Amino acid sequence: MILQFFFSWTCLLWIVQLVSCADISEFFSTRRGILPVQDEVAPLRYIYRRQNATEFCKIFPGDKEWPSEAEWAKLNETIGGALIRPVPHAAVCHESWPQYDAEACQELINTWGNYEMRVKHPTDIIYQYFQGTSCEPSTNPSTPCTRGGTPEYVVNVSSAAQISSAIKFAKEKNVRLVVKNTGHDVSGKSTGAGSLSIWTHNLKKIEYLPDFKNDYYSGPAMRVGAGVSLYEYYTAADVNNVTAVGGECDTVGVAGGYLSGGGHSPSGGLFGMGADQVVELTAVLPDGRDVHITSTSEPELFWAFRGGGGSTFGVITSVTVKVHPKIPITVSRWAFGSSTHNITNETFWEAVRAYLDNIPAIADSGSQAFSAINSMGELGYTFRMTSFFAANHTVEQYDALMKPLFDRLKVLGVEVEQNTTFHNEYYGGWSRAFPKLNGRFNESKPVLATGSRLIPRRNFEDPRLKNKTFEVFKEVAGMGYPFIFYTQKNEAPKGVDNAINLAYRDSAVFLIVSAVYTKTSSIAEINSTRNAISNVVVPKFKAITPGGGTYMNEADCREPDWQQNFFGSNYPRLLALKKKLDPDGIFWAKTAVGSEGWYIKDDNGLPEVQTGRLCRKMLAW
Ligand SMILES: Cc1cc2nc3c(=O)[nH]c(=O)nc-3n(C[C@H](O)[C@H](O)[C@H](O)COP(=O)(O)OP(=O)(O)OC[C@H]3O[C@@H](n4cnc5c(N)ncnc54)[C@H](O)[C@@H]3O)c2cc1C
Ligand SMILES: *[C@@H]1O[C@H](CO)[C@@H](O)[C@H](O)[C@H]1NC(C)=O
Ligand SMILES: *[C@@H]1O[C@H](CO)[C@@H](O)[C@H](O)[C@H]1NC(C)=O
Ligand SMILES: *[C@@H]1O[C@H](CO)[C@@H](O)[C@H](O)[C@H]1NC(C)=O
Ligand SMILES: *[C@@H]1O[C@H](CO)[C@@H](O)[C@H](O)[C@H]1NC(C)=O
Ligand SMILES: *[C@@H]1O[C@H](CO)[C@@H](O)[C@H](O)[C@H]1NC(C)=O
Ligand SMILES: *[C@@H]1O[C@H](CO)[C@@H](O)[C@H](O)[C@H]1NC(C)=O
Ligand SMILES: *[C@@H]1O[C@H](CO)[C@@H](O)[C@H](O)[C@H]1NC(C)=O
Ligand SMILES: *[C@@H]1O[C@H](CO)[C@@H](O)[C@H](O)[C@H]1NC(C)=O
Ligand SMILES: *[C@@H]1O[C@H](CO)[C@@H](O)[C@H](O)[C@H]1NC(C)=O
Ligand SMILES: *[C@@H]1O[C@H](CO)[C@@H](O)[C@H](O)[C@H]1NC(C)=O
Ligand SMILES: *[C@@H]1O[C@H](CO)[C@@H](O)[C@H](O)[C@H]1NC(C)=O
Repeated sequence: MILQFFFSWTCLLWIVQLVSCADISEFFSTRRGILPVQDEVAPLRYIYRRQNATEFCKIFPGDKEWPSEAEWAKLNETIGGALIRPVPHAAVCHESWPQYDAEACQELINTWGNYEMRVKHPTDIIYQYFQGTSCEPSTNPSTPCTRGGTPEYVVNVSSAAQISSAIKFAKEKNVRLVVKNTGHDVSGKSTGAGSLSIWTHNLKKIEYLPDFKNDYYSGPAMRVGAGVSLYEYYTAADVNNVTAVGGECDTVGVAGGYLSGGGHSPSGGLFGMGADQVVELTAVLPDGRDVHITSTSEPELFWAFRGGGGSTFGVITSVTVKVHPKIPITVSRWAFGSSTHNITNETFWEAVRAYLDNIPAIADSGSQAFSAINSMGELGYTFRMTSFFAANHTVEQYDALMKPLFDRLKVLGVEVEQNTTFHNEYYGGWSRAFPKLNGRFNESKPVLATGSRLIPRRNFEDPRLKNKTFEVFKEVAGMGYPFIFYTQKNEAPKGVDNAINLAYRDSAVFLIVSAVYTKTSSIAEINSTRNAISNVVVPKFKAITPGGGTYMNEADCREPDWQQNFFGSNYPRLLALKKKLDPDGIFWAKTAVGSEGWYIKDDNGLPEVQTGRLCRKMLAW
């Protein structure tokens, strides 16, 4: 496997379609999670009314109980006309839809790689695999285009009251509910067939609050609506001469899945993770209540919403986050490789070892070093520092930090040319390190299957463990699996206690490994690629990080033991809250807290694809 595309910027990693996701059926046969037995999962009041003893399902279009046009119209009236009957984004490319328009289709093909354009659509998601790849921007207008795993109806939200109405409707009618912000979810958690979608994209308000004060925090803050993108957020911070903590890629949301899952950031090593910045938030709960959540008004919710995962406890409508003083940024890019620099494989790996030796120092500096190791087949290997984001560093400070590494590389005969730039503030550094995405639709782009792991700092300190870690890096690269990794600390800021996976706190590296297949691969091929990640590759990293975990937002969501790996010791507490807040199972997404036991029926052999009906086996009856 020669995967040059993997060299590109971090965002580009995700451009390629991704397969993944929860194999819920496996949960029934080989349960390895820490979960309590089935009958302890939230009781479902509605089963008494609608279902039989072996199975409970959400209603689906075509069922006799599916709401009538008149009922949908009534909901629409309740929410002020904000109900959308969505049309697949690429319908313009297909004669089978009245929207067919060859010119608009060509435009869509030309701009498909521009996520900013795509997140504006009510049901488009980045990884179409989860919608069954049911409607592509194809140049052949006779190819089929169906709704696939897209929602039936969408509420174009502008107020909390509309969210309450949507929740009540979904509950009353037993319709599946989904929540979509930007649709970036790597596990397809923001889409689903036969659903009503709460679409938060238009909650765009941003306020700068120089003198925010509550019981928990006083100081400068920003309050952002749930639909604000990273790009809008960083721009607002820049205008106000402050630094805000957010993700890397400009089109990811700030206050939806990103923050709910924890959220890593180029400045996370200095200020903590995305969720660590939250000082209050507003949300609509599964019972329809619109609540203001602070450390004193709703302490348990305040804890859980910051790291406990998206689409679980309700819909966030806004968050208020701490902001920080302006900091200077140094960004550097460089690479070395046996394939490009006339060094042997042995020398290459000695150079990688030297990098591993420097990981604790890099983490301590508060920087984020984003790099990739790639196998080039017979040509050997490449190590690429895609962006070294030296937060609060001048070039001189960065050079001093990196001197031990580059001195060692010189001794090894590894020549490295660095491209280093200095930026007075965060915005400039971020823009260079993580440039905007663009590009055309590419039919033959491979589909990615990924897995990931958080690697503790001790793996780079304890000499024996470090050797083992090094051997696993070498082995996995040698097997032809490329990986990217962030070197960074993510400690909790002083006094912050939230639901972020504790595996993050003592980590120095977050690593994402992947394999590819093509859009024309058979289900058997897809499964064998996926299974290799889940059952062969990721376990190698697990073996050197016992009891550890990973970042739920960028993981293998066929992860068999996701409760432990995504939530760790927080899981029982989060599950208890889920049962209390959402006894009817209104909010569901694969691998979200309390999602076990549910599955997608009629999945055609790919259990993670969201084209079927959402059901739950009633094992406890
Ligand atoms: C190109 C790309 C770049 C990325 N870069 C980063 C990065 O820099 N840092 C990082 O930490 N992660 C990153 N990720 C992973 C990212 O955190 C997840 O994809 C995350 O789920 C995105 O959240 P979203 O709200 O933008 O997307 P969505 O797909 O819309 O939502 C994700 C999940 O959150 C739920 N959700 C959305 N809004 C709300 C809400 N208001 N209330 C409750 N639940 C909600 C959805 O139902 C879904 O379960 C990246 C992913 C991609 C594809
Ligand atoms: C109960 O559910 C099962 C599983 O879907 C189904 O096979 C069966 O027909 C249902 N029984 C009744 C009486 O609806
Ligand atoms: C909802 O109402 C608005 C305003 O009347 C209308 O434009 C829209 O088409 C309606 N939505 C649906 C799904 O009928
Ligand atoms: C959604 O609502 C906003 C107003 O809040 C409006 O500007 C926008 O056009 C609507 N989008 C769609 C797709 O209906
Ligand atoms: C931000 O800093 C610039 C340059 O120092 C200054 O001109 C501007 O007024 C500041 N903006 C705010 C909102 O303080
Ligand atoms: C590698 O070595 C060959 C032969 O000595 C030489 O032609 C080539 O330019 C070298 N490449 C690099 C990148 O140094
Ligand atoms: C370097 O490693 C690659 C991948 O393992 C291998 O194919 C190649 O033969 C090695 N090169 C040498 C000179 O040993
Ligand atoms: C940034 O560096 C300066 C001086 O080097 C230091 O005083 C300041 O505390 C640092 N800021 C952070 C957030 O670490
Ligand atoms: C350094 O990187 C910038 C882009 O960030 C690029 O424009 C410039 O050409 C690069 N310089 C060198 C010498 O490669
Ligand atoms: C499309 O993707 C394939 C596979 O990654 C690549 O080889 C090809 O160059 C791409 N085509 C275009 C036009 O970018
Ligand atoms: C780690 O590996 C290096 C290189 O093979 C070796 O010299 C060193 O003794 C090993 N250290 C331990 C503690 O095993
Ligand atoms: C693919 O793998 C999944 C998960 O292991 C399994 O449920 C499914 O039956 C497999 N599909 C086929 C067609 O083998």
